[in-house]
Amino acid sequence: MAEVDIKKGLDGVVVDYTSVSKVNPDTNSLLYRGYPVQELAARCSFEEVAYLLWNGELPSQEQLTEFTARERAGRALDPVVKQVIDALPETSHPMDVCRTAASVMGARHALAEDASREANMTKAIDLFAAMPAVVAYDQRRRHGQGVVEPREDLGYSANFLWMTFGEEQVPEVVEAFNVSMILYAEHSFNASTFTARVITSTLSDLHSAVTGAIGALKGPLHGGANEAVMHTFDEIGIRPQESLEEAAARAKAWMENALAQKKKVMGFGHRVYKHGDSRVPTMKAALDKMIAHYGRPELLGLYNGLEQAMEEAKAIKPNLDYPAGPTYHLMGFDTATFTPLFVASRITGWTAHIMEQLDANSLIRPLSEYVGPEERHLP
Ligand code: COA
Repeated sequence: MAEVDIKKGLDGVVVDYTSVSKVNPDTNSLLYRGYPVQELAARCSFEEVAYLLWNGELPSQEQLTEFTARERAGRALDPVVKQVIDALPETSHPMDVCRTAASVMGARHALAEDASREANMTKAIDLFAAMPAVVAYDQRRRHGQGVVEPREDLGYSANFLWMTFGEEQVPEVVEAFNVSMILYAEHSFNASTFTARVITSTLSDLHSAVTGAIGALKGPLHGGANEAVMHTFDEIGIRPQESLEEAAARAKAWMENALAQKKKVMGFGHRVYKHGDSRVPTMKAALDKMIAHYGRPELLGLYNGLEQAMEEAKAIKPNLDYPAGPTYHLMGFDTATFTPLFVASRITGWTAHIMEQLDANSLIRPLSEYVGPEERHLP
């Protein structure tokens, strides 16, 4: 067999230029359109960051007012999307619900056949505005609760929480949620974004690309890890009232056992970052605030125990999903809703990439090296 240099998993392969974000594993940094994500998380609303990802610049006050009004006007759950969700079993995975909803929204969009940049921007904003209602309603219906109508007087994050829980949340909780949305928004050519770009490269439509991206994000090696982290916590056993030290000791023992069995522990490791994920310190600070707010030190014990044991055994660092999972748990989201929250955020990054791909498109069609049987013929 001829020697071919296969880059399994496209590891290390640079496939195109992008000006949406820059991941630098050497300096553990992540820039959205040039701005460090930590600065954006500390100072901006998710709406401002969405605007930045799509337009390349932060909005002026006037632009933000117009953009915010546009987003608020698109928040209500489309009755047809609701009907389709209601037709799905309550046991459907929320990612399947999200994926189906994105597809229905595409088929129903007034500009479905229009692939101009203006139409795509409209579609992107529509998806961004509408997805929280899908995620919120799907969680509610599993609890036997009805739709909570959006509130135009609340920002994106406060309204998302309102539609999910039917109660206004205190500013600390809204802020932690806003931080998570900003951190999840964009991360260069990850698997789901690449999926969206591949679909776009065929000149298929924006909703098809987003629908495919949601499918890619579902997997536990990608976005599904935030949900998987909570399953780990559950398997170890969450015992409210347990001391931080006791919880940490149990978590350490669990991790040592898991690694002895050569298990992959979700929420750790990253294809690009090898010295730690740039987003983790910011998300961990948000988690710490939530642990203090809800008075749940045992969760910090579990978090620390797993992290320390992994560090000692393999020096593998946590990724963003590790602190995000328990943060969403504390806020009251069902574990299966965690990855849809990632979808709601990442719609911004995906659609920025879809528009960038179309601006300088080339069909993405790699080659493969055939290793099957030599040519043969029917008897
Ligand atoms: N738990 C245990 N071991 C891990 C690990 C984890 N989460 N992540 C990596 N490793 C180990 C592998 O077992 C492998 O060890 P080996 O060389 O002894 O076989 C080594 O580290 C390299 O891992 P590999 O999976 O080949 O690296 P990758 O670059 O392909 O993996 C991920 C990146 C993200 C797929 C991987 O770290 C992983 O599966 N993590 C868990 C899922 C997750 O949290 N995903 C969210 C990413 S943001």
